[in-house]
Amino acid sequence: MLKVAVFVSGRGSNLNAILKYPNLKNLAVVDSVISDKKDCKAFQIAEENSIDNFTLGENEGSISYTGLTEFLKARKTDLIVLAGFLKLIPDTLIKEFKNRVINIHPALLPKFGGKGMYGINVHKTVLESSQKKSGATVHFVDETYDTGKIIAQREVDISDLDSAEAIAERVLKIEHELLPYVIEKFAANKIVLKDDGVVILL
Ligand code: GRF
Repeated sequence: MLKVAVFVSGRGSNLNAILKYPNLKNLAVVDSVISDKKDCKAFQIAEENSIDNFTLGENEGSISYTGLTEFLKARKTDLIVLAGFLKLIPDTLIKEFKNRVINIHPALLPKFGGKGMYGINVHKTVLESSQKKSGATVHFVDETYDTGKIIAQREVDISDLDSAEAIAERVLKIEHELLPYVIEKFAANKIVLKDDGVVILL
């Protein structure tokens, strides 16, 4: 059973999608939900599902960034999933959990990614650049925003949409299918990393 730590910052709809995904029932368990926020909707979802949740920070009762790697190792975490987490992951964690940290991005990377490209900003930029398609990307996390090896992408036609909000809504539905699918592949050891950096899903 793959032990998953989900890092969140907000409403937690991707966390919810993971918890509801039937194929993951016997393959993966969300062992912890972690946020840089003291409280967020995603924590309520964790509580409703009896999942331990933790705040990152220097306050009493929080996990420090410097102690995060040891914390996750102690919980025997197998996979770290960033689902709306907006802070950079410490390099020590990236090294310790090499190719075991993934992120869901609400656009077709490598375009529309990088610092500042999060939330509605992504969809506004996609709209302003008159894209006919957008979509979601799941990628490995490395030391900079949104530049890790791409694991999977799914496109969606947005040529009939004329607002960033409508694009966000349509892309979010794709995210809720793509992220659990990639976790399922990970749990089944069906993600192959080739020497040239290309990722293959078996
Ligand atoms: C998602 O759109 C994800 O692509 C981005 O942040 C958002 C998180 O949404 N990284 P939620 O908290 O999972 O609803």
